[in-house]
Amino acid sequence: MAGYDVIVIGGGPGGYVCAIRAAQLGLSTACVEGRNTLGGTCLNVGCIPSKALLHASHQYHEATHNFSRMGLLAPEISVDWPAMLSYKDGTISANTGGIEFLFKKNKVTWLKGWGSIVSPGKVKVGEEVHDAGSIVIATGSDAASLPGIEVDEKSIVTSTGALELEQVPQRMTVIGAGVIGLELGSVYSRLGTRVNVLEYLNAITPGMDGEVAKILQRLLKRQGLAFQLGVEVKSVTATDGGQQIRYLNRKTGKEQECTADVVLVATGRRPQTEGLGLEQIGIETSKGGQVVVDRSLRTNVAGIYAIGDVVAGPMLAHKAEDEGMAVAETIAGRAAHINHDIIPGVIYTHPEVAAVGKTEEQLKEEGRAYRVGKFPFLGNARAKAIFAADGFVKLLVDRFTDRILGCHMIGPSASDMIQEISLAMEFGASAEDVALTCHAHPTYSEAVREAALACGDGAIHA
Ligand code: NAI
Repeated sequence: MAGYDVIVIGGGPGGYVCAIRAAQLGLSTACVEGRNTLGGTCLNVGCIPSKALLHASHQYHEATHNFSRMGLLAPEISVDWPAMLSYKDGTISANTGGIEFLFKKNKVTWLKGWGSIVSPGKVKVGEEVHDAGSIVIATGSDAASLPGIEVDEKSIVTSTGALELEQVPQRMTVIGAGVIGLELGSVYSRLGTRVNVLEYLNAITPGMDGEVAKILQRLLKRQGLAFQLGVEVKSVTATDGGQQIRYLNRKTGKEQECTADVVLVATGRRPQTEGLGLEQIGIETSKGGQVVVDRSLRTNVAGIYAIGDVVAGPMLAHKAEDEGMAVAETIAGRAAHINHDIIPGVIYTHPEVAAVGKTEEQLKEEGRAYRVGKFPFLGNARAKAIFAADGFVKLLVDRFTDRILGCHMIGPSASDMIQEISLAMEFGASAEDVALTCHAHPTYSEAVREAALACGDGAIHA
């Protein structure tokens, strides 16, 4: 039996980052992970592989749609799906291997196997029980199931199966117009699959700014994705002609159906706490199955913390990472910082969507006095040069103080550009602060400055 100052259960972005930071702060640290590789859902079957497929399929789309517009003529380009999957797998192993290296460098012990908490201060991995000064639960989430639908990860898949289909299907039905449905739906649509998306609500991307959601839907439709909103999927049955999807039209109350070769179930994720022994030691969980924690991410049992998808808040890798670092600092006796109000969210479609802070809908609901500064990418020379002038940057500021309350953008490199506003908000900046900051020309980020100018005396190029 070995003893550690900290044992982190789970080697995803929350867990591995927590373990590395704890070790850097001088604590003897172990991280329990049962997969063959570190990195959790994000690196193995989530963010990273999906970004590889999004990148490859986008390049294909560019080659078939925009190359000739730039004077690039090539013999017809085609998709070698097995090779694309190998490229994706290579991206995964480069990253998971990197974390193993970081563990060695920082002297974090990887306890291989699935862990459970026997009692406060004791973690069991396989047959061995290890002592821990503090325990951090970072076990992440699983795809939520949908009644009436049995996932086989071959023709009825979650995001995991969708990342390794044997072939590019001719027809795919996506259930759920959230982040996963739109990203993976985009991948297959670009590769030639006929993709239709069925969504329960009357708009796509729940929680996102309404204007952004509308334009995103329009652009995705133009790319070939079909949408049916306000429908509730009830069942999926295998037939000779493929998977038959039955759904209820919530407006008309009528049952409808469609058929596909592959069905992607993308209706959300739920916290993964099974087999951890939480009930035995009396760790409080919520109705939704999340581990209940206080502001410092402490559970109700002394010495046990929880972070990431397993606790409340957006299920995002970067939110988990921030919580991981904060918990490590707390355990080391340092002051921890985490601002749950400023967590950016990104959808890696084309164009990308990115947001931070409040939406206009939220501000209205709160009765806040606000102003909007908006700038379309049509006025951005760099975006126009690469046929990416769809979309806009929208900044929401306090009507009286000019302080930035939120930002929503759809356009080229939105995922990176949102950081400028996250940082500005973290420093309590006003739109004028951003407007008075020199932005390099020609860059997409000039659109952010123009949106900030639009909050004051007006944008220059609109
Ligand atoms: P989601 O919560 O984003 O979207 C699920 C959608 O399914 C909702 O719009 C919901 O109304 C719809 N839905 C639920 N039941 C339905 C039914 N019976 N029929 C039709 N529609 C139905 O969940 P998603 O896309 O599965 O993602 C899960 C989590 O993973 C999210 O928290 C997301 O933030 C995270 N994620 C983040 C990514 C990123 O940051 N780029 C990428 C992938 C996932």
